[in-house]
Amino acid sequence: MTKARIGVTGLAVMGRNLARNLARHGHPVAVHNRTAARTKALIEEYGDEGTFIPAETPEEFVASLERPRRLVIMVKAGAPTDAVIEEFAPLLEPGDMIVDGGNAHFADTRRREAALRERGLHFVGTGISGGEEGALHGPSIMPGGSAESYEALGPLLEDIAAKVDGTPCCTHVGPDGAGHFVKMVHNGIEYADMQLIAESYDLLRHAAGLSPAEIAEVFRTWNTGRLESYLIEITAEVLAHTDAATGRPFVDVVLDQAEQKGTGRWTVQTALDLGIPVSGIAEAVFARSVSGHAELRRAARNLPGPQNDVRYLSGFADDVEQALYASKVIAYAQGFHQIQAASAEYGWGIDLAKMATIWRGGCIIRARFLDRIRAAYEADPRTPTLLTDDHFAEAVGAAQDAWRRVVATAAQLGIPAPGFSSALAYYDSLRAERLPAALTQGQRDFFGAHTYRRVDREGSFHTLWSGDRSEVEA
Ligand code: 6PG
Repeated sequence: MTKARIGVTGLAVMGRNLARNLARHGHPVAVHNRTAARTKALIEEYGDEGTFIPAETPEEFVASLERPRRLVIMVKAGAPTDAVIEEFAPLLEPGDMIVDGGNAHFADTRRREAALRERGLHFVGTGISGGEEGALHGPSIMPGGSAESYEALGPLLEDIAAKVDGTPCCTHVGPDGAGHFVKMVHNGIEYADMQLIAESYDLLRHAAGLSPAEIAEVFRTWNTGRLESYLIEITAEVLAHTDAATGRPFVDVVLDQAEQKGTGRWTVQTALDLGIPVSGIAEAVFARSVSGHAELRRAARNLPGPQNDVRYLSGFADDVEQALYASKVIAYAQGFHQIQAASAEYGWGIDLAKMATIWRGGCIIRARFLDRIRAAYEADPRTPTLLTDDHFAEAVGAAQDAWRRVVATAAQLGIPAPGFSSALAYYDSLRAERLPAALTQGQRDFFGAHTYRRVDREGSFHTLWSGDRSEVEA
């Protein structure tokens, strides 16, 4: 009987589409689902797409896999993933591998990888980005795990991944939880990107007075230039869409409370632990949170706002394009800084240029722009920030006047733009020769004797605030 080269258990849409993608590429794939009806439905509907080997039980599923066994689990993150691991691990033999293709928290992946390594098994936490369509037609794939497991898995995953200029959007990210970490930051950047697009729409709608259909055209135009990306492309589609039930613009009938499954929140929590400022991602997470506080918003609805109702018609859309581009560079620079810091913290050895390379296609943040980021990290893998790369320094510098006008306009008109304004604040903070943090240090020393350092000599100091205010070496 033909042995399967790889197996997928968990045949909800993502798992089913991943199995179909593997089969379409000529790889015999074993398929299993706790509810056998799902497996049956897959074979009935798509059985002609390639060689599927259905299994009703975990034992049957494992027996159908060639050695070393490659078993992909596509189930909900958290406890369901642990349950499936426990169901299959006892059936596997040393050298076999379990691939977790869900959006697991990287700390869980590190724990699982260590535990399964003890049992001679490889555990490969793998980010898979691109949604259901990506899983079927070519996702961006971010596997972690051991180098040995990538030898067995890499050719398969690269075969089914999206390709850009013939290069697969898949590479070995690094050991243990590195893959899921990078996927988490991908999602954090996705949040920031989406927030900046939302603010661009809000400004064009309520400062420039454009209609959703007119704004859709603006986004379509932007998608032919440096902002070309999947998110810009789908934004034009969403804004051009008319609600069939009412004939009104679709965006006007959707409840304005954004939800979130959690990967953006994890990104910010992890960045706080690492001490890396990801203000763009944080503002995006909080903007979704604010939108969900209906009670709070109702209570504050009639708070006084600005009087002037300025209408910027000529040139404002171009200003917003520049503000969007500059703020996007900031968000990506912060995300890559976080990956760089985690790689150093956990000894992952992540190649940032390769991360930009595999994000050029297949994933939700796929964009022409990522090729520039790839070039920047290839030119200087250790650069502390993308912002000092010649291309980005010049582009953001040239955009800053427009960017400042947009932030000022938003403030004057009372249109919330936390993404644009925090990105500008981050840019100006990095540029500043002196920051007001000196005053913060003085305050901390005054009320808590937390000491401070000086600009003119080494050491830590404390001023005797409640005494003669002389300074002592701490
Ligand atoms: C992807 C997507 C995917 C999922 C988001 C939704 O990379 O394919 O990011 O992971 O659609 O995580 O996340 P929220 O519900 O948090 O927006």
